[in-house]
Amino acid sequence: MNILTPLVRCSFEHVPLAVFASSAAASRAVAREVAALIRQRQQVRRPVVLGLATGSTPIAFYAELVRLHREEKLSFANVITFNLDEYYPLPPEHVQSYRHFMRTHLFDHVDLAPEHSHLPAGTVAQAEIDAHCRAYEEQIRAAGGIDFQILGIGRTGHIGFNEPGSPPHSRTRLVTLDPLTRRDASGDFGGEEHTPRYALTMGVRTILEARRVVLMAWGQHKAAMVRAAVEQEITTQVTASFLQQHENALFVLDHAAAGALTRFRTPWLLGPLEDQGLAWDEKMTRRAILWLSRQRKKAVLKLTDDDYNEAGLQDLLRVHGSAYEANRTGFYQMQHTITGWPGGRDPHRTQPGDAPARPLRGASAGVFPKRVLILSPHPDDDVISMGGTLCRLVEHGHEVHVAYQVSGSNAVSDEALWRALVFLRDAGLADAVAAARITAWCSAYEATGVLPPAAEFKRWKGFIRRHEATAAARVCGVAPGRLHFLDLPFYDAVTVRPRRLGDEDVDIMHRLLGEVRPHLIYAAGDLDDPHGTHRICLHALHEALRRSAREPWLAEAELWLYRGAWAEWELDEIDLAVPLSPQEVLRRRRAIFRHETQKDQALFPGDDRREFWQRTEDRSRRLAESYNTLGLAEYEAIEAFKRYSPADFLLHGQL
Ligand code: F6R
Repeated sequence: MNILTPLVRCSFEHVPLAVFASSAAASRAVAREVAALIRQRQQVRRPVVLGLATGSTPIAFYAELVRLHREEKLSFANVITFNLDEYYPLPPEHVQSYRHFMRTHLFDHVDLAPEHSHLPAGTVAQAEIDAHCRAYEEQIRAAGGIDFQILGIGRTGHIGFNEPGSPPHSRTRLVTLDPLTRRDASGDFGGEEHTPRYALTMGVRTILEARRVVLMAWGQHKAAMVRAAVEQEITTQVTASFLQQHENALFVLDHAAAGALTRFRTPWLLGPLEDQGLAWDEKMTRRAILWLSRQRKKAVLKLTDDDYNEAGLQDLLRVHGSAYEANRTGFYQMQHTITGWPGGRDPHRTQPGDAPARPLRGASAGVFPKRVLILSPHPDDDVISMGGTLCRLVEHGHEVHVAYQVSGSNAVSDEALWRALVFLRDAGLADAVAAARITAWCSAYEATGVLPPAAEFKRWKGFIRRHEATAAARVCGVAPGRLHFLDLPFYDAVTVRPRRLGDEDVDIMHRLLGEVRPHLIYAAGDLDDPHGTHRICLHALHEALRRSAREPWLAEAELWLYRGAWAEWELDEIDLAVPLSPQEVLRRRRAIFRHETQKDQALFPGDDRREFWQRTEDRSRRLAESYNTLGLAEYEAIEAFKRYSPADFLLHGQL
């Protein structure tokens, strides 16, 4: 019984998919299908076997199942479950174990018999792993096979923990986790060094034997892998692509995760837009022209009728009459993103003939100077991601506030704290009692390379980052009184994993918004942040704005999202491009250098060995080159932003 209706398949897609406006709606729909199956089997007095996944993706799905149990009497008495995987080695009581996850999100809240839930055991002795895995497969077979398998997709394209290279005939076994997977999990384990290297996982064959498979994916950071799995050929490098061979598989996506699919990204390749219920609006026109310019490796104003025709853009040509007219439309749209006055101009100092501060649109566009609030999830994101723009806003005379949302203490090494302690010891600044403790800590570090556990250290590590942020903000000219260290509590929660936003976090953010009443808000819209903190911080803003909905300042406010160190906006998404001079690039570099504990440190290095200042410079230079290649202007570097009216942001919520 398939309740979820797939979209009509297009020629690029090799597996059916259903796309929802939000992950919440999608999760509810999947839960409805599972509930219908459970009830149908209850009527014929038969059990149902569910294959379950963990991770951030299925949390809302489990919440809906729990709700159905509590409010709509959905019983799990006839349900048998097999989870995909478990970290190895890891005891079931560990807060990060998948057994613990399942208890927290489902098992403890429904009437599922404990003997009916199965997970691979993270505690099995090494010598018994093979036998344990064979027995797991046998248990699945004995239960009648999996009726309904839930999957997420990792950023390596994995299903279960079938990392790149896993063959299609693989069965339940011990695997080594990919470095990217470990990096994604490292936030929950408190650093990569504490993250397991191995896992026990069902194999690709085990998963493909399920009678129905539903893969869920939410968020932009999944979009590239979703596209690879859905549109490209089947490969062991993206094990989710094996679902193309399954007769009853469905990808359930939100808009962001579906965003890289041809039907959304370049729909003109599928035929006239009208036939797809789409139109050549401003955004689509810009996207097609920029796409064409890159395809043809030509500046926008040099594209010819032939270029449009040969690339399948006859339809766009028809709308504009000629390549010349179409080119001008695309060119001006891009040109209008550029401004050196991100906060607008001082009306008293504007000369006739000065370039307009174009992209500002909000009711406060004419206000000068403006109150500006820059939200920096970690203490260095402000200067890494928008340091040049920050300096400009200050220089232009705006009242610039920077709020650091989390303490960032997890990314401070013991060595960095030891250096601060050694200073205190050697400078003789502490009284006798404190000096004795400091000396003992220092000696322990010097002997072992790690500090002994002490309750104070987490807070002190936070201070180190605070001082670095203050020094960096000084380079940018921001007064200390305008720096706000929020230390949102979700970041330091040890008992709630994966970390989740709480009321207190939202209260703190809401209070800050009320205090500053900003005309301009800059926030990290960086959903590729590997350890999830940026996503939660954006969520915190979202909830705080929701609470501010009736406050008059919000009607005048504009919200701009920047990307963090890990990615850049697509060209056609950019609404504001702030060019930087070579001097400004150097000043930004000086500010980033103030974050000494983050320099060439290896807490979250992943596969990119460049330091943050290098990433920032490479990224903003590459963006400037793209503008140049489009034929716009030649700048040293550009920082880019995407506009969100707070009202839209509240409406759509998820990016
Ligand atoms: C979890 C599992 C993994 C996850 C995938 C996505 O049991 O097997 O394949 O589904 O890593 O994880 P999230 O949902 O956290 O992005």
